[in-house]
Amino acid sequence: MLKQVTKQLALQGVRTFSVGQQNNYKVTVCGAAGGIGQPLSLLLKQNPLVTDLALYDIVHTPGVAADLSHIDTKSKTAGFIGADQLGDSLKGSDVVVIPAGVPRKPGMTRDDLFNVNAGIIKDISNSIAKNCPKALVAIITNPVNTCVPIAAEILKKAGVYDPKRLFGVSTLDVVRARAFIGHALGVDPQTVQIPVIGGHSGVTILPVLSQSQPLFKGNQDTIEKLTVRIQEAGTEVVKAKAGAGSATLSMAYAGARFAGSLLKGLNGEKDVIECSYVQSTVTEATFFSTPLVLGKNGVQENLGLPKLNDYEKKLLEAAIPELKKNIQKGIDFANA
Ligand code: NAD
Ligand code: LMR
Repeated sequence: MLKQVTKQLALQGVRTFSVGQQNNYKVTVCGAAGGIGQPLSLLLKQNPLVTDLALYDIVHTPGVAADLSHIDTKSKTAGFIGADQLGDSLKGSDVVVIPAGVPRKPGMTRDDLFNVNAGIIKDISNSIAKNCPKALVAIITNPVNTCVPIAAEILKKAGVYDPKRLFGVSTLDVVRARAFIGHALGVDPQTVQIPVIGGHSGVTILPVLSQSQPLFKGNQDTIEKLTVRIQEAGTEVVKAKAGAGSATLSMAYAGARFAGSLLKGLNGEKDVIECSYVQSTVTEATFFSTPLVLGKNGVQENLGLPKLNDYEKKLLEAAIPELKKNIQKGIDFANA
């Protein structure tokens, strides 16, 4: 009988879930009216695990929320505008995704965004500590390498820090590596598996091409060129946009994938694996991206460093001092 009902519901396009799965989560997007925030919110509006979508920004969210709310998916969309409404946007949130802050213009490094974006991350983190201390928090805002340690320090000061619940979003590096390798090999990028470890800027981005599946075969010169292209892909977009900002659409795609994986983990799905920049003991850098198994409490298991060849070991050596510097800058800012 139950089987028949389930089949009937499936035929009507209604998904059913086994006992133990919650299947109704609140997601807050901070910076929801921006170049990333809008398409990211559009993609999250289509995620069947989301029932409440809260859109927070200092501008335009009533309009963005009204627009999205006409889409015929089950989630309710609400707009929150201005610092006074930040707390309400976060209350009860299971996942908070943060693309709030200024993007690069040609000639700038991600670190040049620190002066403006560090304060934004500090304020949002303080409000997360008060309003949704158990939420999984995914930081997109640059410089990611520094913003994540800032958030960690702020949450620590508030006594609510759980390193398993705080993530820097480096998914775009993985998405790019899959795209470039897929097109180079003439295979569907969706079938490419590749860990990208380290951080999210220049030499700290370490694509582990020796572990890509299917294997990226090439001489050392080709491998080095592809490595640098993945490391500099953000700058490639910044240059092409010529002053109009940095990657937004590919980032929205990557952010929706990462937030979707956090939700799948929360919902008890098995074997959900993503690379993300988290507190780490894998290397000397106290924050580092490696493949993680995601579960009901965020990071369930850190899968550690993939096997590296000699070239990749050199890349790692170059990444660590830069990462340590970026991390210390965040810690100093938060404790100043
Ligand atoms: P954008 O300027 O288009 O949008 C940013 C939004 O943040 C705006 O709507 C703005 O009003 C809002 N904002 C500013 N201050 C705020 C505050 N205090 N609280 C809430 N919202 C606030 O920029 P974008 O292109 O969407 O980029 C956003 C950030 O994401 C940048 O820092 C950029 O460098 C970063 N980024 C990261 C990655 C990554 O891979 N992690 C990729 C692309 C961009
Ligand atoms: C990216 O990698 O596209 C982002 O970090 C944005 C940037 O400034 O490059």
